[in-house]
Amino acid sequence: MGDALQTYLARTGASRRLHERARRVMPGGDTRTSAYWAPYPVFIERGDGCRIWDADGNAYVDFVNNYTSLILGHAHPAVLEAVTRELRHGTAYAAPLGAQVALAEMLVDRVPSLESVRFCNSGTEATLFAIRAARAFTGREKVIKIEGGFHGTHDTVEVSVSPSLEAAGPADDPRPVLASDGVPGRVRDEVVVVPYGGLEPVERAFQRYPGQIAALVIEPVPGVMGYIPPPPGYLAGVRDAVRRHGALLIFDEIQTLRLSRGGAQELFGVVPDLTTMGKIIGGGFPVGAFGGRRDIMDLFDPSRPGSLHHSGTFNGNRATMAAGAAALRVLDEAQIARLNAMGERLRAGLREAARAAGVTVQVVGVGSLSSFFFTDHPVTDYRSRAAVPGSLQSLLHLHLLNRGVYVISRGSLSLCVPMGDAEIEECIAAVGDALGEMRPDIERAAPQLLA
Ligand SMILES: Cc1ncc(COP(=O)(O)O)c(C=O)c1O
Repeated sequence: MGDALQTYLARTGASRRLHERARRVMPGGDTRTSAYWAPYPVFIERGDGCRIWDADGNAYVDFVNNYTSLILGHAHPAVLEAVTRELRHGTAYAAPLGAQVALAEMLVDRVPSLESVRFCNSGTEATLFAIRAARAFTGREKVIKIEGGFHGTHDTVEVSVSPSLEAAGPADDPRPVLASDGVPGRVRDEVVVVPYGGLEPVERAFQRYPGQIAALVIEPVPGVMGYIPPPPGYLAGVRDAVRRHGALLIFDEIQTLRLSRGGAQELFGVVPDLTTMGKIIGGGFPVGAFGGRRDIMDLFDPSRPGSLHHSGTFNGNRATMAAGAAALRVLDEAQIARLNAMGERLRAGLREAARAAGVTVQVVGVGSLSSFFFTDHPVTDYRSRAAVPGSLQSLLHLHLLNRGVYVISRGSLSLCVPMGDAEIEECIAAVGDALGEMRPDIERAAPQLLA
């Protein structure tokens, strides 16, 4: 990493000191694994629009947006105004609230699969309860999950998130691999893992466990894998297989809801039984939600005998509901179309910058979600993603930080409303510049990528 690392260390002394202090009271100096990178992440002190400033005063254009959740950027006036107005009346009560109904109505109006919805505080809770509902509704226990798919951190979904290729078995019939120590071994028997993009493995999974599969859970455009577009007909084929085998289809739209007014399900014209949501529907505040068919969601109706228990002290709290509704009001069809078109321009510009620098890369993505990978093979699933050299991805991340461009360290970027052509150009120029400087590193790690 040489010069890039030296530059980073020189620019971020205040963050380094804060990190050292933080390590004394928090493991690794943070309260969240996903926001860590070596040697230490920068501490961000403030954000405004699409820009953030770190503890040393360095400014960045923010293409992370708190992992895609801040689609209006930082401190958007509509969100600030709504939240301050609401908070005058308190934060949360042990009672239903009109603001919950208002946000639920907006979601039901927008998202094709939603007839009924419940709020929680994170995406993890959303997928936990959607899967629990599917198990309760079908009376079955197994869940089909996509290899490399990320759905939060509860036990059932902590399987084959980023397995080592030695442990993962054959590509067309992957072995379930626990993603974390501490997840009970029995979870391996609850989860059937299939590769993204193929219908045969899905059919085989249902045939291998007849009458045992409660649900198939999938991100329509897998995020951690790099926002890979679904092959034509794939989601419809999955929909069909799941229905034929009497299971439920769960779309995890925690990231993809931003792709159209009604999420990826509207974009691709495939309606699941249940949908999980998060991120943008909280307007920047902690949130999750799950919903779908009324006959399934009615399992949570406490006026019915034997209903499913779903609690959460801060579910549907006043600030989150107000911020979420304010965000969705701004996010009309025209605004989403503008963001998606900017995403297309960004991907085209990144490809052109790489071509001009003589470096072969893959730029993938859908709408306002994009990724940049150092590989000459198309990235179509977990295995092709896992073949990308992590060292080059990390080095590019550091180079971009040094140039004031904040991206997800694995090479992904999301756009937000305050961005315009200037920010897209700034990002493309920074990547082009970084690639030029990285040539010797690319020569060492992956010489086949250099023209
Ligand atoms: C697709 C997907 N599902 C679930 C989650 C978990 O959401 P949370 O971090 O709010 O628990 C995430 C978070 O990044 C996600 O991207």
